[in-house]
Amino acid sequence: MKLLVTGGAGFIGSNFIRHMLSAYPDYRIINLDKLTYAGNLENLQDIDKFPNYTFVKGDIGDSHIFDKMEIDAIVNFAAESHVDRSILDATPFLKTNVIGTYNLLETARQKACIFLHVSTDEVYGSIDRGFFNEDSRLLPNSPYAASKAASDMLVRSYVETHDVMAIITRCSNNYGPYQFPEKLFPLVILNALNRKPIPVYGDGMNVRDWIHVNDHCRALDAVLHKGRAGDVYNIGARCERTNIEAVRLLLKKTSEQLGIDEQELTGLITFVKDRPGHDKRYAIDPSMIEGNLKWQPEKDFDKGVSETVQWYLSNEKWWQRIVSGEYAEYYRTQYGESI
Ligand code: NAD
Ligand code: DAU
Repeated sequence: MKLLVTGGAGFIGSNFIRHMLSAYPDYRIINLDKLTYAGNLENLQDIDKFPNYTFVKGDIGDSHIFDKMEIDAIVNFAAESHVDRSILDATPFLKTNVIGTYNLLETARQKACIFLHVSTDEVYGSIDRGFFNEDSRLLPNSPYAASKAASDMLVRSYVETHDVMAIITRCSNNYGPYQFPEKLFPLVILNALNRKPIPVYGDGMNVRDWIHVNDHCRALDAVLHKGRAGDVYNIGARCERTNIEAVRLLLKKTSEQLGIDEQELTGLITFVKDRPGHDKRYAIDPSMIEGNLKWQPEKDFDKGVSETVQWYLSNEKWWQRIVSGEYAEYYRTQYGESI
């Protein structure tokens, strides 16, 4: 199979390419990525010499970039992905997540190839009780979530109008190696290592539904090979935690691995102003992918968190380069000099 992976230099995309090259050594993969602040070719250093892997620097919004590519399927990870950034400026979110997806849909239409659109549970908005299923209404609350919901709607329209073989997945919060340190898990680990305050928004009681990135990648593999065109699949591991629970677990694991007193790190927790429009709870029902595609998450949360902490401890060169660059400026804008 000839696969075009877009946004493959980011967190989930790079883990997906690694998974696919290991599971299907005969597949050819083109990774097209704009290399925004979140794209990092060091995420793929161990595989970038594979003969069946090619990197192309490019923007999914560029309508001619795909002309000469032979493709059986597109897996679209390319996006602006951070909610807080969408609150500061939504422009790149609209350009990439909406117009970029439209351009990819046109490409899939012209090439008559499969289009797997990697979306998010955030399109459903927040739910106090119960779970979102694939038929739940889309009620996005952040500009990021709205841009993803808009892209999902475009995908749906291309299935209905142009018979594009498109499938949408909506996954919950991912954690694991190579996640950019603006997101909660790596932010907590790195601030703990550097003894910096750990910002917890509001009262820390917002709930997120966590899944290890490898389980997400295995789910995408199942959807790509066994999913039905036009379908939507929720992906989640039934692993809800309040933010403060998740932060405390991360600090427990970090202190254990550093061999220090846990209180030295929990003392860094700082409750800060809440995120505007902050969704209270995400919780999705993954029964459809479990039943129809026989996929199940494998990674135990406690073990996955330990391994993730260990990964950041062992890969200081990877994150040092990021925290000393453009991210440092963003961090100051977001949290001020004092934090
Ligand atoms: P990320 O921010 O780590 O990576 C995004 C990648 O897309 C980067 O490599 C970036 O350079 C690239 N990119 C951005 N704009 C581009 C453009 N115009 N053209 C080409 N490449 C471009 O994001 P992530 O966390 O890996 O998320 C990947 C996808 O999965 C996103 O679509 C996101 O909405 C979705 N998702 C993420 C999560 C999560 O918890 N992180 C959960 C569910 C769904
Ligand atoms: O649910 C899937 C989504 O998960 C993806 O679509 C997004 O791309 C991804 O970024 C993630 O969105 P969240 O907003 O849930 O993730 P984030 O890591 O930014 O925040 C997780 C929770 O932690 C959220 O409730 C906000 C809170 N938080 C976050 C940061 C960065 C804090 O309390 N402090 C922080 O410093």
